[in-house]
Amino acid sequence: MRPYTIIFSTETLDGRIADPTGFSRLSCEEDFELQHMLRAQVDAVMVGSRTAVVDDPRLTVRLARGWSPLRVVVDSKLRVPPSARIFSAPGKGVLVTVEGHGGDKLWEYRRRGVIVVESGRGRVDLRGAMERLAGMGVRRLMVEGGGGLNYVLLKERLVDEVWVTLAPYVFGAGRSMFDGVESVRARLALYYNKILCGGWVHLRYRVVYS
Ligand SMILES: NC(=O)c1ccc[n+]([C@@H]2O[C@H](COP(=O)([O-])OP(=O)(O)OC[C@H]3O[C@@H](n4cnc5c(N)ncnc54)[C@H](OP(=O)(O)O)[C@@H]3O)[C@@H](O)[C@H]2O)c1
Repeated sequence: MRPYTIIFSTETLDGRIADPTGFSRLSCEEDFELQHMLRAQVDAVMVGSRTAVVDDPRLTVRLARGWSPLRVVVDSKLRVPPSARIFSAPGKGVLVTVEGHGGDKLWEYRRRGVIVVESGRGRVDLRGAMERLAGMGVRRLMVEGGGGLNYVLLKERLVDEVWVTLAPYVFGAGRSMFDGVESVRARLALYYNKILCGGWVHLRYRVVYS
């Protein structure tokens, strides 16, 4: 059993979620509201270690009614410091990392109340981590990138829906929404669309793996 998983992302017309400097502010006000609405409807929200380091997001619900979900970061090498906002914002933070770090390296996270989940060796085993999250009561999971994490989740067939907002920009280079090396075959079935802020296009798809 794994959680029902929805990727939420805002990308340029050429599929980039960040430019080469890491700049990624692509959302308009209504897009932020949708993002916070979805956060309020899930049990946990997950990001990759690079997003946690570059953006230092809080991942809390501020622009919608409802409770903030569990905040999960996938971080094999403990790059995200225990002081990151993902762990210190109100509510619970979860560090998903690999086995074998040793208690001393994890002590400061645990001291701050972070729940540590160890799954896999070398790199986080995402399927195992998601099964562990399901065991903690996570039935619906929102993933807020970045491209590296999105790519591996899709490749490993762990994604049920993709919610994407196309922002009226072109970057020409940078991280793409699904950023990997090998090709992935997934077909998406559109079930909802909406124009936001007079120029952003919000699309919701179910994933159809072939
Ligand atoms: N526009 C948007 O909607 C949006 C949303 C989110 C992020 N962003 C931007 O995207 C950029 C970051 O994206 P990114 O693709 O570089 O990084 P990312 O997906 O946030 O993080 C990737 C990292 O996650 C860690 N990881 C651990 N286990 C993994 C596994 N099994 N599979 C995949 N990753 C695993 C890896 O580092 P370790 O091996 O060290 O653990 C990997 O380098 C930032 O610039 C951010 O601002 C934009």
